[in-house]
Amino acid sequence: MKHLLSASDLNYNSAIRVLDTARELSLVTDRPVKKLPTLRGRTVVNLFFEDSTRTRISFEAAAKRLSADVINFSAKGSSLSKGESLKDTALTLQAMGADAVVIRHGSSGAPHRLASAGWIDGSIINAGDGTHEHPTQALLDAYTLRDHLNGGVGDLAGKRIVIVGDVLHSRVARSNVILLATLGAQVTVVAPPTLVPVGIETWPCKVSYDLDAELDGADAVMMLRVQGERMIHSYFPTTREYSRRYGLNRQRFERISESGIVMHPGPMNRGMEITADVADAERSVIVDQVTNGVTVRMAVLYLLLGGFPDDSVDSAVESDQ
Ligand code: NCD
Repeated sequence: MKHLLSASDLNYNSAIRVLDTARELSLVTDRPVKKLPTLRGRTVVNLFFEDSTRTRISFEAAAKRLSADVINFSAKGSSLSKGESLKDTALTLQAMGADAVVIRHGSSGAPHRLASAGWIDGSIINAGDGTHEHPTQALLDAYTLRDHLNGGVGDLAGKRIVIVGDVLHSRVARSNVILLATLGAQVTVVAPPTLVPVGIETWPCKVSYDLDAELDGADAVMMLRVQGERMIHSYFPTTREYSRRYGLNRQRFERISESGIVMHPGPMNRGMEITADVADAERSVIVDQVTNGVTVRMAVLYLLLGGFPDDSVDSAVESDQ
């Protein structure tokens, strides 16, 4: 495997391989000296056409902990704001010898274009494309779920996970549904009818419009941000009405499993999709998600640049089980 463009690039064995590798690497990040020499002399470019806090610094930290050289390239302040094309930008990065390009772009499919056009020899990693996919977010969420619900090993077979909110605009939801299904979880997506994408019936999940009907005994609730900046119409009457029907508050939180967890990819609209007390509750793992993002991205860079052992994955994983 050379690129990571979609959560569907990962089959069961390769997904487990990434999670296991991240778990091993987390032992390094717990040490006082957090650096490994693995990617010394390799160059990772962070190419960000859209704003980002967590994902960009997380990829930067991951690459640096593996001793790679990191170039951060954001649209603001570069020739991209002068209208330079994706192709010319890519050719520049190729000329600089990029071994991996981590790309976030407002258009769905931009990372696929970069990977298929042949402008760049290195690996392409999708760090969020439009409303389409965000596979490393799904991996860090799967890692966090496995850590809290399964002692950090195995898969998520039989776990009940409820994903709630603005599914229409969420690349996090799509990638999570794909990966969580690959790992055996039972996923329910809950949204107002106006925020459900066309074609959701083809996704490997159940769809519901009623949050209260789905919470009892859930192993995890993943809240999605209401993405105001992508909204071209009005999708619900008022913020208050949205929170009343689809917000996670204390009463709703108390209905999930006693060991169940609350997740959010960030950035949060506190008081809208999640109340501040639930966001800060003991079983909210939102900060852990950020920590795990670094180790999971280390694993992705390590495996893609070190040569993902596609052929050995089956035997290696089977012998672990
Ligand atoms: C998400 C994104 O950018 O897709 N955030 C993230 O990567 N941590 C979700 C969001 O913006 O709501």
